[in-house]
Amino acid sequence: MAEQHSSKSIMWAVIIVAIALIAIVFPLTVKKSTSAADAAGGNDEADVRIQPVAKFELAKAAAPAAGGAPKDGPTVFNSVCGACHNSGAAGAPKAGDKAAWAPRLAQGKDALYKSALAGKGAMPPKGGAADLSDGEIKAAVDHLLGLAK
Ligand code: HEC
Repeated sequence: MAEQHSSKSIMWAVIIVAIALIAIVFPLTVKKSTSAADAAGGNDEADVRIQPVAKFELAKAAAPAAGGAPKDGPTVFNSVCGACHNSGAAGAPKAGDKAAWAPRLAQGKDALYKSALAGKGAMPPKGGAADLSDGEIKAAVDHLLGLAK
């Protein structure tokens, strides 16, 4: 009875399935091509490898959410820095890991402020949150160092 209708809905179903397949397959192909250097490591580590980037993108999305009043250290840390420093992603020294922080603390606070503001190694300037003020970044450093004491 609804012959025409059902053929139309089948067409839409096919289109939707095709889009879904593209959405699933495309990131897989991208992941493969960018991981050429790690090819020897095998595919089961793919999730681990994209973690730093995935989390970092989340952090960037979350950072500019609230404007206006300056954010305090824990807020900045949780929305920006924790992406790397909670998990150790990208080789970041983990928050609260005294052994990892001891040699860095020995550089003095000003050097650590400077690293956080200007970037160091895999850490982008201001942890990637360029919209934050120097004061907000320093407050986050204070919070991070406080966790390692
Ligand atoms: C993209 C990941 C990433 C983000 C986001 C990030 N860091 Fe880092 N951070 C690192 C890495 C990696 C290192 C180690 C750099 C090195 O020694 O080569 C590091 C090192 C540091 C250090 C030690 C620097 C030194 O001179 O030894 C401080 C302090 C620091 N981060 C603070 C912060 C603060 C504060 C934020 C948030 C505003 C932040 N980080 C966000 C990855 C990150």
